[in-house]
Amino acid sequence: MSNVTPFRRGAPGQPGLSAGRAGGMAIVMLASPDHGVGRTMLAAHIAVQAEQTGDGPVGVLDMDPKGDLFQWWNRRQGKVDAPAFGACCDATGVSLTLEGMRAGGARLCIIDTATGDAEALAPVAAVVDMVVIPCDSGAGAAGDAAALGRALAKQTAVAHVINCRAYSGGEDGNALAAMGGGWPAGTVQQANAYAIAMTAGRTVIESHAGSDAARDIAEIWRNLRGILVAG
Ligand SMILES: Nc1ncnc2c1ncn2[C@@H]1O[C@H](COP(=O)(O)OP(=O)(O)OP(=O)(O)O)[C@@H](O)[C@H]1O
Ligand SMILES: [Mg+2]
Repeated sequence: MSNVTPFRRGAPGQPGLSAGRAGGMAIVMLASPDHGVGRTMLAAHIAVQAEQTGDGPVGVLDMDPKGDLFQWWNRRQGKVDAPAFGACCDATGVSLTLEGMRAGGARLCIIDTATGDAEALAPVAAVVDMVVIPCDSGAGAAGDAAALGRALAKQTAVAHVINCRAYSGGEDGNALAAMGGGWPAGTVQQANAYAIAMTAGRTVIESHAGSDAARDIAEIWRNLRGILVAG
């Protein structure tokens, strides 16, 4: 489950993500009540962005039986900033798998989940530091995402990401966060580059460095990191 890759140090003075957390590892879970809203894409991109900003070693844990994130991690092996640890498991294996990553030295774990409602996601939400809920800009999807956010906010920090917006603007991200009882973490514009990069085991962070797509991801991780550090 581990991948030998050099990892970067954070900037001097950068507040640590993992200080004070169980075993020194922060845990972020991607979740949503709707299919195809970018959970797996965001999990992979956040993991690589975090490795780049010195928040690694990062582990990715795939709890979706489809295994898209784990397959991406396997395709990523040998490339720069590959998440150091990759695993897949069901709900019964979460504690043990997280323990293994902690023991191996991971400082951040990103968990991808199958589409689920609050009841299905609550047991995992109970052991994470933050749930990130992506949603597209459709009104129905926003209502579902907000309802999930309100339910999980009773257990942990919740952040909302608007994905696949065809134009820029953060207003409805803020509205969604207010409705969903969480933090607005940013907006990801629609770009074919995400799918192309993921298929090759990459991310837009390196395949389209300097692009708007890469900047969207950097901003989201900056925001999520800030929420985690603020506790
Ligand atoms: N901002 C975006 N622009 C264009 N394509 C995107 C964007 N975000 C995600 N995609 C693509 O949309 C598809 C669905 O994304 P992804 O698999 O990450 O969603 P998911 O929520 O994990 O879906 P599932 O319910 O199947 O697990 C993928 O092909 C992905 O590459
Ligand atoms: Mg997925």
